[in-house]
Amino acid sequence: MLSFFFLTTTGWAFSPRVPSATRPLQATTAAEECTPLIDSDKWGVCVSESGKSMFNVVDPAFEVDTINFVVVKNPGLGILLEEVANNGELGVVVVAGVVEGGPAEDSPLKPGDVISKVNGRDVEAKTYDDLVSVLVEATSPVEFVAKRLVKRYKALVEVDGEKYEFFGGENLRRGLIARKLPGNDKTLGPNCGGDAQCFTCAVEVIDGADVLTAPKPPETIVFKDRPTWRLGCQASIREDAASSGPLTIALYPNRKQQ
Ligand code: FES
Repeated sequence: MLSFFFLTTTGWAFSPRVPSATRPLQATTAAEECTPLIDSDKWGVCVSESGKSMFNVVDPAFEVDTINFVVVKNPGLGILLEEVANNGELGVVVVAGVVEGGPAEDSPLKPGDVISKVNGRDVEAKTYDDLVSVLVEATSPVEFVAKRLVKRYKALVEVDGEKYEFFGGENLRRGLIARKLPGNDKTLGPNCGGDAQCFTCAVEVIDGADVLTAPKPPETIVFKDRPTWRLGCQASIREDAASSGPLTIALYPNRKQQ
């Protein structure tokens, strides 16, 4: 059953229950293998082999950001909570908002966030009633860990004729290595590990330069006469790269120039 409740500055207020929309899990990208039990539109709930109940991501287009903050009770917390899924034992309770002028007004909480820990106690996937109990009993100031779903923008990257999907914010050199591609030209000597010292991570951008973050020194200095070259360790896929691309790069530009 689904519920919609409010924890106000003066205590708890409850709104009418709304119909259940629990449905089978369609996809997960859980960090730990687990058996999916219930899900809402974005958050799923799993129980791992170790018996831990935890949230996972239903939509692989999203990843999880962790947020730490503290709220001083006065006397409540001023956090609005909504239970969007419940299988009787586990639930998905999301933040619906914060009370204007309440203790949590200046917290980083946003609608859709879920509460992961309260004063160090793991509260992931608790039902609304269980979560409320923990929050009511929590001593002030209350230390929170919350989780937020963040959109993962994808960009199509063509490397020497092969196509790969990279994510927004991903470092180009580390992304190449993660896809078992060479992040550095070993024939040029040892690499500096991404410190912009060795220049062995150079790539040539053939097309879609705006998919990458803009070059800054030392790139602009070292490649003054080669404006299409980038240091893989200094270039990242832009966070909003989904709107541009594709990016086409060639590895080993030094060799090709010889
Ligand atoms: S890894 Fe050395 S400059 Fe990029």
